[in-house]
Amino acid sequence: MRRVLGLPPDLQSTSLLGEAGLDEVVSALDLCAERTLADLACGRGGYGLEIARRSGCRVVGIDFSVVAIEQAQRRARELGLADRADFRVGELTATGLSTASVDAVLIVDSIQFAEPLPDALRECRRIVRPGGRVIVTCWEALDADDERLSPRLRQLDLARQLPRAGFVDVEVTDKPVWRRAEHALWREALTVEISDDPALRSMQEEGQRVLATFDGLRRVLATARAPRAVPWSPT
Ligand SMILES: C[S@@+](CC[C@H](N)C(=O)[O-])C[C@H]1O[C@@H](n2cnc3c(N)ncnc32)[C@H](O)[C@@H]1O
Repeated sequence: MRRVLGLPPDLQSTSLLGEAGLDEVVSALDLCAERTLADLACGRGGYGLEIARRSGCRVVGIDFSVVAIEQAQRRARELGLADRADFRVGELTATGLSTASVDAVLIVDSIQFAEPLPDALRECRRIVRPGGRVIVTCWEALDADDERLSPRLRQLDLARQLPRAGFVDVEVTDKPVWRRAEHALWREALTVEISDDPALRSMQEEGQRVLATFDGLRRVLATARAPRAVPWSPT
């Protein structure tokens, strides 16, 4: 996965955002020292920590997996970033972060897990300061009625859902190059000789499922901004 996605060797990813995508995300976030990034559904914290390392920003990572959060905390210590990194257990819909407390929000390949999705987008709007950014990478169905795809993915339409959550300057861009790398990854995974390794077996099963409906999804990068003059309000 690391070779095909081109990620730095010490970045612990549990998603499919490769190096080219990470570069675009870093540039869209436009963070610097003294700024704070919230990495929601952060997993082991790989992307948030890498962005903190590149930009000098602080990162607060939220995930509902206690195990992932412990691993992220350990990783922050190993990378010498513990003074700028804070990982906490929380939900996409209830992060526990204070209102307008972060400069940017990042959600890598996880927004589809939010239940319900609109509440998670409203939570992003609540925690980001006026003028702050939200960046989401995910997949969207080309046809929301395509029953081959999971309902989680079919519900996503960020070009409509981010404005409803109160964001402006919404742009949802197709990423065919990222998608081609994913295709290569799943194809190669299926060529590896089947073994008793449960992780490899699971990856191959996932590859078969993904490739069977590959033509039904598009890869997207969504960027948006909280309005500058409008503080968050619960109504
Ligand atoms: C595909 S992994 C991506 C992790 C990380 N963003 C990355 O790119 O490496 C999905 C992550 O979402 C987390 N997750 C799923 N549903 C969640 C929820 N409702 N609230 C918080 N985290 C959630 C999982 O625990 C997992 O770490």
